[in-house]
Amino acid sequence: MTNDECRIMDLGSFKQVAVTAAEKGARILQSRFGNISRIRKKVAQEIVTEADTESEKEIIAVIRRSFPDHEILSEECGLITGSSEYKWIIDPLDGTVNFAHQVPIFCLSIALSFKGAVVLGIILNPLAGELFSAVKGQGAQLNGLPIQVSSISTLTDSLLVTGFAYNVKEIFDPVITRYGNCLKAAQGLRRLGSAALDLCYVACGRFEGFWEQNLKPWDTAAGALIAAEAGGQVTTFSNQPYSGDQDEILATNGHIHKEMLELLKV
Ligand code: IPD
Ligand code: CA
Ligand code: CA
Repeated sequence: MTNDECRIMDLGSFKQVAVTAAEKGARILQSRFGNISRIRKKVAQEIVTEADTESEKEIIAVIRRSFPDHEILSEECGLITGSSEYKWIIDPLDGTVNFAHQVPIFCLSIALSFKGAVVLGIILNPLAGELFSAVKGQGAQLNGLPIQVSSISTLTDSLLVTGFAYNVKEIFDPVITRYGNCLKAAQGLRRLGSAALDLCYVACGRFEGFWEQNLKPWDTAAGALIAAEAGGQVTTFSNQPYSGDQDEILATNGHIHKEMLELLKV
């Protein structure tokens, strides 16, 4: 979908519903933070808490009330089919391991796609009171104010961030090689534990670059749009446009993208 087509669509009402859904989910996350009684293992290190499922229930209820025919893909409940070409892509808690350990770095992420292209992204960090949003073709915002990627142009002045997928042991060697390359080249390197926030922090200029392997559509759908709409570049490690279902994502401020692609070659 082109930016012009997007401008013609009225995404305002969709955004309002997405923000309401996000606020409802965020209330659950806030009340459950430091107050969870059950942590269930999905596989190996992958866990789910009642905060994930309760937040998901609230978000989906709001969306379904307004758009009963829309399709929904949400991390914990999977795909809810619908007759419409609109699809909501939801991560009801991004940063579950942090959350379970009472590390206050997590958020929830809601994206809307139309005919396969993401047109709206909302990421809410309840503890920081930060709402990141983007509409395709209309820029990105933090709490209603426009945001932009940083203008830093050298890797030695760049702060980078990455994450490790739950199946990191299966892809250990390339992950560590890439980590080492970037650690040597950058000013600093972080691992926050929330891919959606990593992308938002690139969008608002806190980080210059983020990369990760084996993320899922709900981790990146909203954040990739927010980073791109803030002027960032979002591709795979082989510089193909990132569309949400590839195994690799690299999001940068654009200035360091070429150099980052070199560091990620293994
Ligand atoms: C995880 C976080 C983490 C990333 C993992 C994701 P979850 O999502 O985004 O930063 O490194 O790959 O799975 O499980 O907390 O929603
Ligand atoms: Ca996630
Ligand atoms: Ca999640």
